[in-house]
Amino acid sequence: MKKNILTGLRPTGNLHLGHYFGACKNYLKLQDDFNFYLEIADVQALTDNFSNPEKVRTNVYEITKDLLAIGLNPDKVHFFIQSKIPEIAELTIFYSNLVTVSRLERNPTVKNEISSKKELFGNNGESITYGFLGYPVSQAADITIFDGEVVPVGDDQLPLLEQCREIVRKFNSIYGNVFKEPQQVLSETTRVKGLDGNEKMGKSLGNAIYLIDDEETIKTKIMAAVTDPNKIKKGDPANPDVCMVFYYHKLVNNNNLDTVCNECKNGHRGCVQCKKELINAMNAFLKPIQEKRKFYDDNPEIVEEILNKGTAQAQEIAKNKMSEVKKAMKIDY
Ligand code: TRP
Repeated sequence: MKKNILTGLRPTGNLHLGHYFGACKNYLKLQDDFNFYLEIADVQALTDNFSNPEKVRTNVYEITKDLLAIGLNPDKVHFFIQSKIPEIAELTIFYSNLVTVSRLERNPTVKNEISSKKELFGNNGESITYGFLGYPVSQAADITIFDGEVVPVGDDQLPLLEQCREIVRKFNSIYGNVFKEPQQVLSETTRVKGLDGNEKMGKSLGNAIYLIDDEETIKTKIMAAVTDPNKIKKGDPANPDVCMVFYYHKLVNNNNLDTVCNECKNGHRGCVQCKKELINAMNAFLKPIQEKRKFYDDNPEIVEEILNKGTAQAQEIAKNKMSEVKKAMKIDY
């Protein structure tokens, strides 16, 4: 029997190349080998977007369409909406007894997020909400309620998985062996740098290429990408290793990469030509994704059906697991 695998995405924006190469490309392989549950984590998205429900709602559909567009097969992947599985919220409450507040405050992922959201949580995290601080507990419930033995995540999520395993151990030691400790699978390609050379690609950094970007947008973004600052004029030799244009050539251009590299190094290639070639390669890479995406844009009822079907399957599993939990906790009245 295939093992269960679960991962989630917060519906707060469209997918960009960072998501694609950092995580989603990996899902394409995993969908064949595992029983794959993919959670659209709207409840988690609300923990730091509670005052923006419209944004979360819109992005539930946006992100689902993006995921279908990259080639996830809805016959293999169960897409489901977190808020439609109330058992996750229920299990979160039970788990919250098994975690100390100080342990959550020490979680590196949570710490980083708090310090990057000063507007929301204060300069020193003094206005942190109970809900945001506790989202790792809710994420542990996400994973374990589906017996997710394997969780494909980026390295930023590893502290959350560690926390999840701690909760599982504690639960099992008190109430009996109900849950499995999940293991992570890291993506082969990790973090994708931004167009500006920043280590991370992100919406708030304004340095991302989205899977839905049209040709005009791609052109504007790539023309503004950071190149080797030591190359002043066209014939100067340059260092492709410090050039974001070459960096993206490596991701999407499998035609003439050696030529691009050599010509850059020996000064036989101007940056404008190089950017134009990258624009073409990027558009060619995005075209099949955008064609698929258009199909789903034109057929919203199919997207709705996929979500409904996946959610119904997820509900069934969550219900069964919850009876097991309640029995173990002696609250199965
Ligand atoms: N925290 C993840 C993110 O920010 C999203 C997520 C929600 C998740 N539930 C999950 C990831 C369960 C893995 C497993 O991207």
